[in-house]
Amino acid sequence: DLDSIVSPKGYEARTPPYAKLLKNLNQVNKITNNQPLTLAEKILYSHLVNPNEIANDIRDIRGLQYLKLNPDRVAMQDASAQMALLQFITCGMKSTAVPASIHCDHLIVGKNGAEEDLINSISTNKEVFEFLKSCGEKFGIQFWGPGSGIIHQIVLENFSVPGLMMLGTDSHTPNAGGLGSIAIGVGGADAVDALTGTPWELKAPKILGVKLTGKLNGWSSPKDVITHLAGKLTVRGGTGYIVEYFGDGVENLSCTGMATICNMGAEIGATTSTFPMQNAHLQYLNATGREPIAKLAKLVNDNYGFLRADEGAQYDQVIEIDLNNLEPSVNGPFTPDLSTKISDLKNATEKNNWPTEISAGLIGSCTNSSYQDMTRAISIIKQAENVGLKPKIPFFVTPGSEQIRATMEKDGLIDIFERNNSIVLANACGPCIGQWDRGIDAPKGENVIFTSFNRNFKARNDGNRNTMNFLTSPDIVTAMIYSGKMDFNPLKDSIKLSNGENFKFNPPNGIDLPENGFVKGRKEFYPELEPKPKSEIEIKIDNESDRLELLEPFEKWNGEELKTTVILKVEGKCTTDHISAAGAWLKYKGHLSNISNNTLIGAVNKETGEVNTAYDLNGDKYSIPDLMMKWKNENKPWIVVAEHNYGEGSAREHAALQPRFLGGKIILTKSFARIHETNLKKQGMLPLTFANENDYDKLSSGDVLETLNLREMIEKNGDNGGIIRMQVTKKNGDKFVFDCKHTMSLDQVNFFKAGSAINFIGESKK
Ligand code: F3S
Repeated sequence: DLDSIVSPKGYEARTPPYAKLLKNLNQVNKITNNQPLTLAEKILYSHLVNPNEIANDIRDIRGLQYLKLNPDRVAMQDASAQMALLQFITCGMKSTAVPASIHCDHLIVGKNGAEEDLINSISTNKEVFEFLKSCGEKFGIQFWGPGSGIIHQIVLENFSVPGLMMLGTDSHTPNAGGLGSIAIGVGGADAVDALTGTPWELKAPKILGVKLTGKLNGWSSPKDVITHLAGKLTVRGGTGYIVEYFGDGVENLSCTGMATICNMGAEIGATTSTFPMQNAHLQYLNATGREPIAKLAKLVNDNYGFLRADEGAQYDQVIEIDLNNLEPSVNGPFTPDLSTKISDLKNATEKNNWPTEISAGLIGSCTNSSYQDMTRAISIIKQAENVGLKPKIPFFVTPGSEQIRATMEKDGLIDIFERNNSIVLANACGPCIGQWDRGIDAPKGENVIFTSFNRNFKARNDGNRNTMNFLTSPDIVTAMIYSGKMDFNPLKDSIKLSNGENFKFNPPNGIDLPENGFVKGRKEFYPELEPKPKSEIEIKIDNESDRLELLEPFEKWNGEELKTTVILKVEGKCTTDHISAAGAWLKYKGHLSNISNNTLIGAVNKETGEVNTAYDLNGDKYSIPDLMMKWKNENKPWIVVAEHNYGEGSAREHAALQPRFLGGKIILTKSFARIHETNLKKQGMLPLTFANENDYDKLSSGDVLETLNLREMIEKNGDNGGIIRMQVTKKNGDKFVFDCKHTMSLDQVNFFKAGSAINFIGESKK
């Protein structure tokens, strides 16, 4: 009797609505004639607004059908929450339709250590933190203040539960899949769908099965599963897929290790990643104070098999990884899929002419700051300490949450780090998101850093485009700081001690969960668990503010074909960091006019090879955002032309909002990263891809591009994809027509017509 499955008292907002999900799934099974489903499909399809709309053959769903879903929860980090909430405010609702949380983590600079850095960051970002806090109070959203921890670690400790479906305004939201959720990274406009109770639309992903066999041993860690996979699949290999892990190797992983693996699924472009329910999940739920939820999840799985794939479920692709023989890898520089086995690093360094010295080591971040990660790093430090070795280079540690930090303190780990010259930073993103102040000694030129982070695009960590970030496990980072050299392989090589003896590290040991339990730490970092909205709270934004600005709605579509001029032809990789840089620009996330001054400043002009340079029709040279602003003021709509996987890297919706704000109409590429393409549609832009890639070569800046059948496509409500014919007029008057592909669905056509998704939602809520 499904109605007897009720959420435990006091845990209602944190328990997936299992009874409703099982009922929906029964309906889906009926319609699909009980075809076996993967775990990811079960969780997704059970969250359908109307399960009766599912196609009756699963081959017609995956990769084809647009699903309208009801996510259970939303999480937002401080940088992206500003724009998400500014958009939510324009919808005029009194409270959010689902539980939600705000996490202040991205705006905190890492420099001298937790205490000092936190005080400074709170004072620099006071206005923004106060805005977010007042939004939390007004709309009943949990507010996790600065210093409380990194969004994904807090979500794992508090909200992720097997079978949950959540959205997060951050691309590493899939971290929660380590605890059996379907957690998807989105832009703020998508978050607003869930916050307003508007069905959230997703094209049903295909399913990539990763079969894990064997057991990690020695130096190999969960991080190596995903760095290895990234090397195999590349940054585009997971696009359009959910990665679902299975096989007996899964049983040997810790819950936080699974989270690390899911976290970096973002680096292969996957929609999300997830794991079937394990004992490790139940142990983690128990250790984080959620015993009643663990009990219910177990019951739901034992009785209905909800939290694992059906027997005979088919994957669209299967990759097998033997954990017994997995070697640690080091991925980078500048792209997370350039994977080098640790035993090949010396040769690769020589071959690629990488610097031979390492300038700093950093561990932690949302990817690798679990108790297990920290204890493994400590086991290496202790070995070094016992023989009198000290780190040769600066070493930074970022705990993922106050709970992790306080437990580390209680168990003596912080003390060991600090007496071995490590700097323990605030529980926040810091160096992982360009908020790393390396002080006056910061290397200006080429230099190498080793980190346990997840992302390594140019200028990502310290703002220096020449800093080469090599991503690897915390264990390898920690061992490398004692040599400081790229040719050191801690698995095989020794370090000469001052007494002339050779010292070699033993493989690290870690503890999955603290033997004496977690401690919560400082109370002031914990919000009320289920806050009630307080409509009397006033949200104040100073007219003079350079940090926050209320949004003006974008104009509606005028019903005409689009006539645009190519403002820029972009060459090569163009990530969301190229389109809307982070680092110092994070400051302006809540101020669309100001942040738009960074639009595409990292992009390379295909025609000149210059960065952040575009040319007006008369040949005058401008920075890219300046020319965009000039054309906006001249009422000259523009189009950007680009290559593959445009917008890869993150859910950053500013990368879509800014071009729209600056007068862009179309982005035409060889291919898009999924989240970015959706973000563009939500802001009323038209994302198109070349039907024939070679047409990219035929276009130049200054060409006039006119759509020929946009109106017809709109009349057909998008028709879930098709061709847009485009007429080109070259500067010399030559004309030709070529085909572009679009992927607009009915809802997305409505966003386009209304000017943006927010305009559309706002109108429908009225
Ligand atoms: Fe923060 Fe870096 Fe993760 S920016 S959310 S720690 S990827």
